[in-house]
Amino acid sequence: MARRKKLYEGKAKVLYEGPEPGTLVQYFKDDATAFNAEKKDVIEGKGVLNNRLSEFFMTGLTQIGIPNHFLKRLNMREQLIRQVEIVPLEVIVRNFAAGTMAKRLGMEEGTALPRPIVEFSYKDDSLGDPLVPEEYIIAFGWASQQELDDIVSMALRVNDWMSGVMYGVGIKLIDFKIEIGRVWEGDFARLIVADEISPDSCRLWDMETGQKLDKDVFRRDLGNLRDAYTEVARRLGVMPTNVTHPPSKPTLIN
Ligand SMILES: Nc1ncnc2c1ncn2[C@@H]1O[C@H](COP(=O)(O)OP(=O)(O)OP(=O)(O)O)[C@@H](O)[C@H]1O
Ligand SMILES: [Mg+2]
Repeated sequence: MARRKKLYEGKAKVLYEGPEPGTLVQYFKDDATAFNAEKKDVIEGKGVLNNRLSEFFMTGLTQIGIPNHFLKRLNMREQLIRQVEIVPLEVIVRNFAAGTMAKRLGMEEGTALPRPIVEFSYKDDSLGDPLVPEEYIIAFGWASQQELDDIVSMALRVNDWMSGVMYGVGIKLIDFKIEIGRVWEGDFARLIVADEISPDSCRLWDMETGQKLDKDVFRRDLGNLRDAYTEVARRLGVMPTNVTHPPSKPTLIN
């Protein structure tokens, strides 16, 4: 007999039905994919690290009043989350040019942007998650104008906090992606941060050396992905082996 119902299996995570209505169990896999899953591998231990790191970031967001789906860590690979209706957008915040933006505009990676820039891509793997203007989002009803305004201000608050935390451990937050979901309360939807925040969904560069500590290590064959993520976890004081540290009180290591 199945222990519980699997609701969705994605590239990096599995969602199971949670113990209470409105909750899910999010399982972090070791699978790494890039370029819309054209490149694949299994990186032993990645799921454990991302479970802990996403918990760390989401707990920090809760502490500064940014609502998100994290409820509780269940074990090394699983966390209990609030079920949301995912807004079908990848919300990307950029502080420095990199990746597709650098390519599109012919900019050198690492160039500081005049201010943080928020952009959206439409979540559709078969289309390769295309970049979309706000007009499309409103016109096609993926989010309302009010929701979009709230998403932008939420994303910028996440960026401010994350940039500061990473700066404190000698890491530049180049860019990141978040997903936002709706929690319905009667006829009203509240927006909360969902999915995950981890080195899979951020670009993180060591401030001194410029060494990449994120999924680009895998995308571009720059070395050992697990070592890179372990370094991020170590600096933030959330090493998976160091379970005695409460994740809400990280030890900053210089
Ligand atoms: N709190 C939540 N409630 C409901 N769905 C969620 C929640 N958090 C994340 N999700 C969704 O769960 C899935 C997580 O799996 P994963 O990230 O592996 O998917 P993926 O392969 O990236 O595919 P997708 O294109 O659907 O994001 C994603 O579809 C994500 O949008
Ligand atoms: Mg995903």
